[in-house]
Amino acid sequence: MTGPEQVAVRLVLNGERVSALVDSDATLVDALREDFDVTGVRIGCRNGDCGTCTALVDDRCVKTCLVLAGRASGSEVRTLEGLGTEESPSAIQQAFMECYSFQCGFCLPGMVFAAEELLDRTPDPTDAQIRDALSGNLCRCTGYQNFVRGVHRAAEIRRDGTSQT
Ligand code: FES
Ligand code: FES
Repeated sequence: MTGPEQVAVRLVLNGERVSALVDSDATLVDALREDFDVTGVRIGCRNGDCGTCTALVDDRCVKTCLVLAGRASGSEVRTLEGLGTEESPSAIQQAFMECYSFQCGFCLPGMVFAAEELLDRTPDPTDAQIRDALSGNLCRCTGYQNFVRGVHRAAEIRRDGTSQT
């Protein structure tokens, strides 16, 4: 029995050009984790419900469990690793830490990128806009309220320019 055909996948991943031969039926989340050694996308439901596999693909929030890796070839992909570090967090990462928004952090890829996308288009969002923007992401640890506080705080940091990145 032969395995699935392989396809060449080329990405600009967190600013670096990378390529790999990937099974033609591999999803982008699997390719990122297994072929490109990126763990800032996580595997939850595998059917588009939880959001923990979220990355920015060509500057748009994408649930990478819903995309074949081969289809994403040629794209620019940014994962949590490309956003900031513990020493130099992005405004949203800093705000989520300050506001104790998360506990285990499993849901962070979706929460962080949904918040980024929201603040890029709506710099001073209301509670309702924040809840709407985060609604495609499931968190099993929190009551979501501290994520809402965190997004308000991130908006403040972005306005004041006090983030380290
Ligand atoms: S693993 Fe992709 S949305 Fe849940
Ligand atoms: S903090 Fe644990 S799933 Fe959200």
